Amino acid sequence: MRFIKTKDYEDMSRKAANIIGAQVVLKPASVLGLATGSTPIKTYANLVKDYQNGDLDFSQVSSVNLDEYKGLDRKNDQSYFYFMNDHLFKHVNIDPNRTFLPDGMENDAAKACRDYDGVLKAVGGVDLQLLGIGHNGHIGFNEPSDVFADQTICVDLAESTIQANQRFFASYDDVPKRAYTMGIGTIMAAARILILASGEGKAAIVKAAFFGPVTPKVPASILQFHPDVIVIGDEAAFSQITI
Ligand code: F6R
Repeated sequence: MRFIKTKDYEDMSRKAANIIGAQVVLKPASVLGLATGSTPIKTYANLVKDYQNGDLDFSQVSSVNLDEYKGLDRKNDQSYFYFMNDHLFKHVNIDPNRTFLPDGMENDAAKACRDYDGVLKAVGGVDLQLLGIGHNGHIGFNEPSDVFADQTICVDLAESTIQANQRFFASYDDVPKRAYTMGIGTIMAAARILILASGEGKAAIVKAAFFGPVTPKVPASILQFHPDVIVIGDEAAFSQITI
């Protein structure tokens, strides 16, 4: 694992965008694995800026997102489809037909997972997977568990995740309790993984996930076994580790 410590969130976001941008420059038809959440927002803003400056061309890029809430319509402003469109897709020249997320409106969970695994197979493997990390060590929505899920699954979100997500919804009852997520096996199959962590609140999990034992109780810990992981964190997120 390579660790890149940055001054602050802005610096982290610039460096992350530079790495994603370099991937697209080096391989214009890259398959990018993308994440939502608050951490990558500025990274996407920087990619949009680079596109607007003429430095990046997304016309041949395909993207596969990690996850989507079960039961949220794409038009719902809390769906991850909406998020991706809002923060990245509508601002750059990516072909909307080559941007993929699990279908949150597919009520048949087995079918939704099967369909998304079909998509992941069809795109032919992720070149660069962007990740954030949950306070409990989740990646995608792979919550702490007794096993590492291989392929796409429908998960019951952990209570702590539901509470963390509540800030985006009018009430607790409105927060989706289930989600579809890429499995750990799929995430681990990406050629390169870029994981971002920002803020004091992530310091303990950064230490546990990357310097503690590898266990499905801390899903991100599996990344220690991946041959090409870059962890970019700001000083606050790296405050409990020595690198
Ligand atoms: C989002 C995702 C989640 C987030 C994680 C951290 O697609 O897969 O694993 O990366 O919950 O979220 P933030 O960045 O909001 O702290």
